[in-house]
Amino acid sequence: MNAASHVAPVITASNDSLTRDFPLKPFAIRHMLAGHPLLTLQRIAKLASDLPRDLIEYNSGAANISQDPDKVASVDLNPVEIVNRIETAGAWMVLKRIEKSPEYRVLLEDTLLSVARARGFNSLAEAGFSQIEGFLFVSSPNSTTPFHMDAEDNFFVHIHGEKTFAIFDNRDGSIADNAQVEYSTTKHRNLPYNDNFKPRGVEYHLVDGDGCYVPYQWPHWVKTAGSYSISMAITWKTAEVRRLNDLHVFNSMLRGLGLPQSTPGQNPGWDAVKLAVFRTGRGIVEPLRKSETMRRVLRRIALGKNANYYLKT
Ligand SMILES: [Fe+2]
Repeated sequence: MNAASHVAPVITASNDSLTRDFPLKPFAIRHMLAGHPLLTLQRIAKLASDLPRDLIEYNSGAANISQDPDKVASVDLNPVEIVNRIETAGAWMVLKRIEKSPEYRVLLEDTLLSVARARGFNSLAEAGFSQIEGFLFVSSPNSTTPFHMDAEDNFFVHIHGEKTFAIFDNRDGSIADNAQVEYSTTKHRNLPYNDNFKPRGVEYHLVDGDGCYVPYQWPHWVKTAGSYSISMAITWKTAEVRRLNDLHVFNSMLRGLGLPQSTPGQNPGWDAVKLAVFRTGRGIVEPLRKSETMRRVLRRIALGKNANYYLKT
């Protein structure tokens, strides 16, 4: 039996949000992960030395909320040095796909299993928690994560420091239109920010033990306060999210060849054809992705010349 089945829920939310608002609207959560041994700076430094380099992204934390990704300042330290000097490095860093490490995978799965049980399901699969991935954020005091959206659902758990997490409602497309949503999903996540968006946002002020649920493609920005910060994104992709993401990627590739495409949902029959073609093609190239070099080449072919922007040469 999994450990999560006989311990207190790892994530809790007030006002029945886990059943009322999930998965369509953001809400505040509390969690039990602050102080966990896998989430200390010392252990994260080891993770940074173990992860393949293309799963680590970092830059200066002195970014703007509305940030051109081509103009982000870099930090001249290696990933382990960034973690070890995070209080003074002036840096923002993310360690991606931490579920590749078995210890972290167990932590992510146990946490989501406790949510699945709170929602009345008996397993991760039954609750729709598939393609579970984890991202660890380590940032210096007064760092900004620019306005962006992510192509997955996310329980964001804050572990150390103080952070403001602002999430915006773009369900009517008035913050980011269809073209921007596709660009953000396939090329670079950042979006232009405008102060007029403010009434459409909700700000969560997070200390250790706090967090929030971030629905698929809801734009957000994040700022740390006066101390260094550790947070983790526990993400998953439902079958519907995977379908939408695949269509966005294929649409982007076809548009790159000069072929205009309808947004997912506008032409469901054509969506189904495109999805079948795309997934067949991907199945053929998937074995090549075992090599880091081939991953770079495939990203370049599929997503364009800036697809490897975060890899320092
Ligand atoms: Fe994000």
